[in-house]
Amino acid sequence: MRFYIETFGCQMNEHDSEKMSHLLRINGFTPVQEARDADIVIVNTCSVREKAEQKFYSLIGRLKKLKDKKGTIIGVTGCIAQQEKEMLKERLPFIDFAMGPSGIHTVMDAITRSREGSFFYDFSDNGCVAPLFLSPEPAQDSIKAYVTIMKGCNNFCSYCIVPYVRGREASRDSHDILEEIKGLAEKGIKEVILLGQNVNSYNKGKNDLSFPALLEKINSVDGIERIRFVTSHPKDLSHELIECFGRLDKLCEQIHLPFQSGSDKILKLMNRGYSISEYVEKIDKLRRVQSDIAITADCIVGFPGEDEEAFRDTIELVKKVEFDGIFSFAYSKRKNTKAATLDNEVPRDVALKRLGYLQAIQKGITLKKNQATEGRVFDVLVEGRSKNSQDELTGRTRHNRIVNFKGDTDMIGRIVQVKVIKGYANSLKGEVL
Ligand code: SAH
Ligand code: SF4
Ligand code: F3S
Repeated sequence: MRFYIETFGCQMNEHDSEKMSHLLRINGFTPVQEARDADIVIVNTCSVREKAEQKFYSLIGRLKKLKDKKGTIIGVTGCIAQQEKEMLKERLPFIDFAMGPSGIHTVMDAITRSREGSFFYDFSDNGCVAPLFLSPEPAQDSIKAYVTIMKGCNNFCSYCIVPYVRGREASRDSHDILEEIKGLAEKGIKEVILLGQNVNSYNKGKNDLSFPALLEKINSVDGIERIRFVTSHPKDLSHELIECFGRLDKLCEQIHLPFQSGSDKILKLMNRGYSISEYVEKIDKLRRVQSDIAITADCIVGFPGEDEEAFRDTIELVKKVEFDGIFSFAYSKRKNTKAATLDNEVPRDVALKRLGYLQAIQKGITLKKNQATEGRVFDVLVEGRSKNSQDELTGRTRHNRIVNFKGDTDMIGRIVQVKVIKGYANSLKGEVL
């Protein structure tokens, strides 16, 4: 049997797809590159914004045609499945199985039952921690790997669907995480990216290692050369964690720290739990500990109540902090969230105009920062051939900047020293020293 998995959404979802793919492969199924060549197609969905949902519904329409023609088994997993539950089958009667993010470990059962002709679903236990314990084999020749350290979110930011579809926070035992990372190092993995919706809450209230203590242990795993993590919540970014950036040699000087809005008034409505002055104070602390740290963030524009002044506050923050990059989104109303009940909605065209303006400002800042690296030499972990040019390799600096340069394929998987010769908007061009 051949299978194909299409993934939407965040890194947690990408990794969940890797977990399902692992289960299918160890049960004798073969991955293929195109849905039309597969006997089983799984769509791992995201419902964080309306656009992500629309992408799913347009894909599933095309998959129905495939099913009509070839009898392909179709499964829907992830956050839309968890949100819609049994309703999904009513809307899309042709699907064969469905389960939320906490049910992905049951994918083999789902396939067996579908092949027997019965609809399988699993939304029952959003608190189920079984997916935490799946350690997928890294793909052949990969040099970096995701490692799940916790699941769920307790923060309930007023706009966000994630706590509803991913359930409450639960942390994986540190022993288990360390065993997985040692195993990855033995298989040649050089970089680990620790995953959780809010990694700063790792093991909160549990008698196990804190997040900084976990980082320290990972830092001494032989073979692992780089450590990154996503995502941090500003309100929980502790002094101990900030200190790690000055202390742990394998922890890359890079952090993703979403601010969401530059206005205290909006942050309050968003239920974010910090003020802009507190946020800026944490940025200053990070830069004091590690002057060269790269900082990226997420930001939402057009949240209900965002007037011109509140938007100006966001622009001011962006100019002041000079982020290395921002993922910015127009607010998307999600049903059953607190923000869906708020007045003073911002018209869509205004939100999109603000988004365009913010993105133009940030583009200039990112370009300026990338150009400022010209002439500097960086350790680059070589990931593979560059997509754009066959005779070029691509890799990342510790700051997570992409560098393309000419080099031999035997460099792949190694850290080489590269001098930047040109900084562009999204990448750097360099030459090996
Ligand atoms: N746990 C992470 C990421 C959550 S989702 C965190 O807290 O940072 C990724 C990003 O999507 C969020 O940071 C936010 O910027 C954006 N997002 C979430 N819900 C949204 C919504 N309803 N409309 C627009 N953007 C949203
Ligand atoms: Fe959503 Fe907020 Fe949780 Fe992030 S911290 S997943 S934005 S509720
Ligand atoms: Fe989307 Fe679910 Fe991630 S809603 S952003 S796939 S947690």
